[in-house]
Amino acid sequence: MALAGLDNIDLKLIIFGGKGGVGKTSCAIATAVALSEKYKTLLISTDPAHSVSDCLEQQIGFRVVKVNGAENLSAIEVVADEALAVFISEHQAELKKLLDTSTNLDNQDIEEMLSLSIPGIDEVMSFKTIIDFIDEGQFEKYVVDTAPTGHALRLISSPRLLDDWIKVAARMRWKYRYMITSFSGSYQQDEVDTFLLGLKRTVKRIENILKDQTRCEFIPVCIPEAMAIMETGRLLSALNQSEIIARQMIVNNVMQSEGCSFCIKRKVGQLPYLQEIDRVYGNLNTVEVPVFTNEIKGLDALYELKNVLFGEETIL
Ligand SMILES: Nc1ncnc2c1ncn2[C@@H]1O[C@H](COP(=O)(O)OP(=O)(O)O)[C@@H](O)[C@H]1O
Ligand SMILES: [Mg+2]
Repeated sequence: MALAGLDNIDLKLIIFGGKGGVGKTSCAIATAVALSEKYKTLLISTDPAHSVSDCLEQQIGFRVVKVNGAENLSAIEVVADEALAVFISEHQAELKKLLDTSTNLDNQDIEEMLSLSIPGIDEVMSFKTIIDFIDEGQFEKYVVDTAPTGHALRLISSPRLLDDWIKVAARMRWKYRYMITSFSGSYQQDEVDTFLLGLKRTVKRIENILKDQTRCEFIPVCIPEAMAIMETGRLLSALNQSEIIARQMIVNNVMQSEGCSFCIKRKVGQLPYLQEIDRVYGNLNTVEVPVFTNEIKGLDALYELKNVLFGEETIL
């Protein structure tokens, strides 16, 4: 089987997720390479481990660069704390005013503000950066490589976390607005209100695209081993809870050779896991990728992987 449906022009955002070391980065880049043969494609790494740079053998940072040797493919690394720093510097004035005008915060408000503003807000800003790229429309396809499962889940639950934060901020504003109205009789919407409304819109935009099966697809990557299968199960149920449906999955590192006793043993060892994957995820389009003799590094190896994921004959 090959990965299917990614050719659809309406499908903009393709996210790869799974346990550490199962091949997410390799598969995400190979997919981006394949898509770039037909579409202007942006590969986005949200993994602070810089593995996209290592795999492409080219420095990729917090700025879009063209990928050497792959026309139509560009790449960027969107690391959460950098994305958050950019956001804070761009909105310093509004954030400061938000806090300044909330002098009548009670302790519970302050605590809630702090506890909600820390977890997830940086991930939201990663996602906001991605969504802003999509809205700008400079590329036709956006392929996202995530860090191990926990991170992908944080990324996906980040809109909900930001929404909670906005609610607390809006409550603080409501108190402020009440105070102003009681003193002066009226209240004019200010830049902080506009800022909060803008954030609310960002949350909606992220949620809308994640849940929209025509525009977004999440592809789990797994290997035929017990722990990876368990983690895939957790990932898929978390996706389900967020109403994100996976249609297909990649099963990487499948042993094919029977050329030596070691290979035969590994192949036999993988069999029950492959059967389990088939039993549990039989409803998904499953693409098996063999273990390559070498690591997947550099464009030649990525093209080889691309041919396995999409078939040699067709572009997609
Ligand atoms: N099918 C494969 N055959 C051989 N090596 C592979 C295969 N898939 C991935 N690798 C290698 O395994 C390591 C982990 O892969 P990577 O794509 O970085 O995983 P992840 O992003 O999930 O951590 C890398 O060194 C990569 O080159
Ligand atoms: Mg990786």
